[in-house]
Amino acid sequence: MRQFTVEEMEAMKAEAGIAACAFVESGMQIGIGTGSTVKYTILELGRRIREEGLEIAGIPTSDATEKLSIEQSIPMLDWDSCEHLDLVIDGADEFDQDLHLIKGGGGALLREKIVAESSGGMIVVADASKRVDVLGAFPLPIEVNPYGWEQTKRRIESLCAGPVELRGTGYLTDNGNPILDAHFGATISDPVQLESDLRAIAGVVEVGLFTNTADVVVLAAPGGCELIRKQTARL
Ligand code: 5RP
Repeated sequence: MRQFTVEEMEAMKAEAGIAACAFVESGMQIGIGTGSTVKYTILELGRRIREEGLEIAGIPTSDATEKLSIEQSIPMLDWDSCEHLDLVIDGADEFDQDLHLIKGGGGALLREKIVAESSGGMIVVADASKRVDVLGAFPLPIEVNPYGWEQTKRRIESLCAGPVELRGTGYLTDNGNPILDAHFGATISDPVQLESDLRAIAGVVEVGLFTNTADVVVLAAPGGCELIRKQTARL
């Protein structure tokens, strides 16, 4: 695939982020993802609230998303008052042809997975650079408990051919946990099994593999936007 310019990338993010809003109707309770593509979704929902009277409420997947959503006058829910979300719109770092995802580049994977699992459907907003044949070129984010993280890292290394790196100096997620980025390379041919193997390691809080979770990818390319639906899509 050819390299995209910064301007092309930004235009694709905006196109995907805005197009996904077509799934949102008044009365819905929605999950709001995290990242530079979903940012455009939040801005568009804010516009529809102001200009079209759209009535929705949302659960944010990160502190940054909560802040931007409030700035855009999107009413926020808490989990006490919300058992189920109609849908979630979120970004991805990679997706494959089965719509399995790598997420967590922005560090929000735990909240993103809780929200995705509580939603009646998941819409992924992505630009063309996120589509891959085999997952893993993007280092797999794994959120771990701070206690004994070095030992958790060794156990993850036993499953990963490449290096496993502690993210940033002093980087912690919104939940106060470190992230390990595992460099599998484009070799994750069985993401379902790998997600399960990694989650079985004590100390692993959540894994950035989202398998059998996404229903639709709104994919923006320079030529326009494409909807990729799973055969079993709930939306
Ligand atoms: C954050 C995520 C993001 O959705 C993912 O990193 C994609 O972000 P962007 O749209 O900025 O490329 O998983 O934890």
